[in-house]
Amino acid sequence: MTAAAIASQEILKPHLTVAGGHSLGGTIRVSGAKNSALVLMTASLLTADTLELCNVPDLTDIGGMSEILASLGVKVERQADRVRLNAAVLSSSEPPYELVNSLRASFFSIGPLLGRLGHAKVPLPGGCRIGARPVVEHIRGLKALGAVIQVEHGIIHANVPGPNKRLKGASIILDCPSVGATETILMAAVLAEGTSTIENVAQEPEVQDLANLLNRMGARVSGAGSPVITVEGVESLHGCLDYPVIPDRIEAGTFLMAAAITRSRLRVEPVVPEHLNAVLQKLRDCGCHLDIDATGITITPKEITAVDITTQPFPGFPTDLQAPFMALMTTARGTSVITERIYENRMQHVGELQRMGASIRVDGNTAIVEGVFRLSAAPVKGSDLRASAAMVLAGLAADGTSKVSGLQHLDRGYDDIEAKLNGVGAVISRQAS
Ligand code: UD1
Repeated sequence: MTAAAIASQEILKPHLTVAGGHSLGGTIRVSGAKNSALVLMTASLLTADTLELCNVPDLTDIGGMSEILASLGVKVERQADRVRLNAAVLSSSEPPYELVNSLRASFFSIGPLLGRLGHAKVPLPGGCRIGARPVVEHIRGLKALGAVIQVEHGIIHANVPGPNKRLKGASIILDCPSVGATETILMAAVLAEGTSTIENVAQEPEVQDLANLLNRMGARVSGAGSPVITVEGVESLHGCLDYPVIPDRIEAGTFLMAAAITRSRLRVEPVVPEHLNAVLQKLRDCGCHLDIDATGITITPKEITAVDITTQPFPGFPTDLQAPFMALMTTARGTSVITERIYENRMQHVGELQRMGASIRVDGNTAIVEGVFRLSAAPVKGSDLRASAAMVLAGLAADGTSKVSGLQHLDRGYDDIEAKLNGVGAVISRQAS
């Protein structure tokens, strides 16, 4: 196939047409956090009782996790924003490769499976476009809790030796504060015999949400949100009904940046402001006024000037908002230096932003962004979830109508983004081909 034919096929794929230049206004609603909901769903594996979550976003990743849990025997029912999960009978401890590979968070099921059953066979998830994404820390932690782990043909075989097949509490110091490793080890440790201390853990709000849910299920977890988590193991956990997933801080940050890039006053709710402190500081620094109250944030952008960011683990600036913030900086006055410290390959949106007239130079994992007066609409493709969101934002601010493809990424993490943005004045439509 010629390059031109490939390009025309790309344009024919499902895409959004984003009409640039419309101001936003009013209130935009934030859904429940994808990264919380995914891991809270896997916590259902820890009990024979029913777990009911509410405020669960409607995303393809949530559908994928439901499928993976169903493959293990979990009964999953969804009604509006509620998901009920019952793992009374686990028919398998081996999620299939195709499913685990398509949804990395499903690998975290190895922790609760080991805790509950004493054995699990889970395929290694592999890397993804943004980086290698190893799981060594997850495995090291499970070994410290007494699991015997072998890797054969890309599949992790994990077993707990001994007559009662119960993990044993241990002291664990993570080499890096991995979110997934913290969650995996935490879910394994809650049913272990004795006390575990896990140091250098991830402090992300999603880890705190998981610890809160586990405590509601009868676990004894303290310290979540700080660098050290302590877990006193219990023999069993019970169910929990009506547990609300926290608001999605990354979706909220994306909408605040949508307001800033279109220079529009917008209210974003619900938001837990402490989950976004580093982002809010950068938005203030670049010229946005923020009114923060108990339920949300009203942003009023003034002239946007360039500021630098470096992505870091929480409470630092989140890597998942690096691409949307870069889109904003392409329209700022001055030069911004954006450094990606979490993933080795998360600059793929640069080329697409350049196609829209952005002026960006990349040196390794640093992008130097010189603000331009106006972006110009173009057909662009999001290479990953957050890069796709950055393309939508750039499209909102550009002259003309952009075509944004790569929706299979966008739909993984944004619940009906075009309807939400159209509700506050954007003009976006979805084309099937
Ligand atoms: C989670 C989020 C993802 C976010 C990321 C970082 C979910 C479902 N996904 O992913 O959206 O971008 O946190 O905020 O919650 N690392 C190691 N060794 C390990 C594990 C991780 O070196 O064993 C490194 C990774 O290569 C990466 C960094 O740690 O550089 C962060 O990864 P991690 O926190 O594990 O990300 P995830 O939990 O996969």
